[in-house]
Amino acid sequence: MNADSPAWRTSNQQPIGIFDSGIGGWSVLREIRRELPQESLVYVADSAFAPYGGRDPAVIAGRAHAIADFLLGLGAKALVVACNTATTAAVAGLRDRHTLPIVAMEPAVKPAASQTRSGVVGVLATQRTVDSAQLARLRTLYGGDVEILAQPAPGLVECIEAGDFTAPHTRALVAAYVRPLIDAGADVLVLGCTHYPLIRDLIEAEAGPACAVIDPAPAVARELRRRLTADALLANGPARAAHVYTTGPVQAMQALLALLGEPDQETTRVTIGG
Ligand code: DGL
Repeated sequence: MNADSPAWRTSNQQPIGIFDSGIGGWSVLREIRRELPQESLVYVADSAFAPYGGRDPAVIAGRAHAIADFLLGLGAKALVVACNTATTAAVAGLRDRHTLPIVAMEPAVKPAASQTRSGVVGVLATQRTVDSAQLARLRTLYGGDVEILAQPAPGLVECIEAGDFTAPHTRALVAAYVRPLIDAGADVLVLGCTHYPLIRDLIEAEAGPACAVIDPAPAVARELRRRLTADALLANGPARAAHVYTTGPVQAMQALLALLGEPDQETTRVTIGG
C-alpha cells in the first residue's frame, strides 16, 4: 500500500503538515489557522538549510522530499508547501510521489494583472523563484497586456531569519528592491516569497499608498479548504495546538515566533534527511 493512500489516513483529525525553509511559511500557517480553525497543524522550518533562495533546485527538491516524508511519518493528511522556492523546485515531484492533497504557493500574478491600472506589476521573490519555469508560465499567461517586473531580493530572507524585522539594514534592502519597481510604474506588488508578508509594513511603507500589496497566503488557505472538502478530509475539531519542528536551534525559532506574537510555542529540534 502506498504510504499515504487514503486507507492509511484513518482520521480527519490527523494534522496538516506545513513547511518552509524557515519562519516564512508561518505567514501561510496564520492564514490557514484563520480559515480552518478546527484543523491541527504541524510546521517544519528547515532552518539549518535556510535560505533556499540561492540553492541548487536539486538540493531544494531533496529537502522537500525528506520533509514531506517526515510529515507523512507524523500522520499528515495533507501537505502545504509554504515556500515559493520549494514549490518551484519540488511540487511536481511531490505530487508524482504522493497521493495526498498537496497545496503549494504561486506568485499572485493573476490577481495582480487584473488589478493593475498602470499596467505594471512588480513581483518580489527569491532569485530561484524569479528564474523559475513557474514564473515564466505566469508571465506567458498573464503578461500579455501587463508588464511583469520580477525583482530578486537577495539578503532579505536572511534579515527576516535573523529577526531583524525593522532594522535599518532590512529597511535599506526593502528600499533598494521596492523603489525601482515603484519608479517603473508598478501599482501592484506581489509578495512572491512567504517570508515577505512578515515585513509587510516595511514593504507597504516603501511602496506607498498608491501601490497595492498582494500576499497569496489567504488564497492558499482557501485552496486548502477546497481540497480538504473535495477529499472529505475536513476535521471537525477541536484542533490541537500547532507543533513546530525546526532543523535549526529551538531558541532561534522560538525567538522568531515571539517576535510574531507567538511566545511559548512548543518547538522541537529534528534532523531530517542527511
Ligand atoms: N519562504 C521562501 C519562499 O517563499 C523561502 C526563501 C528562502 O529560503 O530563500 O520562497
